[in-house]
Amino acid sequence: MDTIESNVFETAKRVLPGGTFGNFPGEVIIREGKAGRVWDENGKEYVDYLLGSGPMLVGHAHPEVTEAAQAQIAKGTTFFANNRLGIELAEAIVDAVPCAEQVRFVSSGTEADLYAMRAARAFTRRDKILKFEGGYHGMSDYSLMSLAPKRSGNFPMPVPDSAGIPKSVREDMIIAPFNDAEAVDALVREHKDDLAGVIVEPFQRIIPPEPGFLAAVRKITADNGVPLIFDEVVTGFRLAYGGAQEYYGVVPDLCTLGKVIGGGFPLAAIAGKAEIMAHFDKSKVGDENYLVQIGTLSGNPVAAAAGLATMAILKRPGAYERIHGTERELMATLGGLLREAGIPAQISGEPPLFDVVFTDQKVRDYRDTLSGDAELMRRFNALLRERGILKGESKYYISLAHTDEDIAFTIDAWKSAIKELKV
Ligand SMILES: Cc1ncc(COP(=O)(O)O)c(C=O)c1O
Repeated sequence: MDTIESNVFETAKRVLPGGTFGNFPGEVIIREGKAGRVWDENGKEYVDYLLGSGPMLVGHAHPEVTEAAQAQIAKGTTFFANNRLGIELAEAIVDAVPCAEQVRFVSSGTEADLYAMRAARAFTRRDKILKFEGGYHGMSDYSLMSLAPKRSGNFPMPVPDSAGIPKSVREDMIIAPFNDAEAVDALVREHKDDLAGVIVEPFQRIIPPEPGFLAAVRKITADNGVPLIFDEVVTGFRLAYGGAQEYYGVVPDLCTLGKVIGGGFPLAAIAGKAEIMAHFDKSKVGDENYLVQIGTLSGNPVAAAAGLATMAILKRPGAYERIHGTERELMATLGGLLREAGIPAQISGEPPLFDVVFTDQKVRDYRDTLSGDAELMRRFNALLRERGILKGESKYYISLAHTDEDIAFTIDAWKSAIKELKV
């Protein structure tokens, strides 16, 4: 096979470890995207549920986002100084997100989570952080504890997910099972004198919180004087305009945001209560309590322009109804098709992101996801890719730009792939 894509992939294999940027299988080389579709270097068209791993909630190359970014590009792309668009974006976040009294910008979700944990440590003058098994908070040493352990450890002992993490980091992380408020209660009470914060994805990967779980975690943390951090890098401006905290009605002390707020450019944020955010301000907390935070591209004006344009689109009446409606239809249809085919499966998710787990067991935490048939999942995803559906390993991201035609195309691809899955 001598195609443009295979030639480019040969180069990729030579110059990139594993032939990839580390994110997605290297043989897929995307040339361009428009609305809910992308095209690879050979011109093959896909309905895109990868959506750049989530930022492109209003679709690729949305004309309003493109225009806003281009207008700023012509005026200069980065200044390392306050700029009006970045300040307006911070104001829009404060207006939208219940816990956000102040905002500090960084360039990636990884950084935002790292600084949120550091802010909680600076505020409480304690060291330990409780996170949940299977919870994703980027790539820092602290976050890569029990993200995806192959073999489950004993709670609350962390299992490092990566080579290169100092052994000592384990001592500062406590791991709890998601959706188990009793376990959280016991661990928070036991460790409260050393516990700087609890960090949670309010909607963990594709697992919704059970009714009452987040409210219980909120109460336990508040009762014990431990800051609660919601990682809203995925859920922010996606589950609702005010994120998971609006959607589930539970307000943390701090949250992190990313993906949607940068409109497809590198931008993320830590946002939260002014008394914790004060640690980013030496004049408020003094030298000793000051949390040093500097980043070359922080508050980048092109990213801010794209983020503001994206948020303006999402704010229009009907936007979330449309995204959620599309998702509900897709989830119900996929569940029905797999049931008809007699394939044991759970559809797990929340508008506007979901996936199937091939198991007959209810999925309420990370260990339940391990009961899924990973090989069947791999085959299903591969069959779908052949049929022009691009998606992540375990997530469909829905966009406002997905059309009825995209949905019909997807359902046809599912039908045909499920037929083949059975043989
Ligand atoms: C919940 C969550 N937190 C943090 C991150 C890290 O964000 P980034 O990839 O921008 O570093 C991700 C990335 O997918 C995420 O899903």
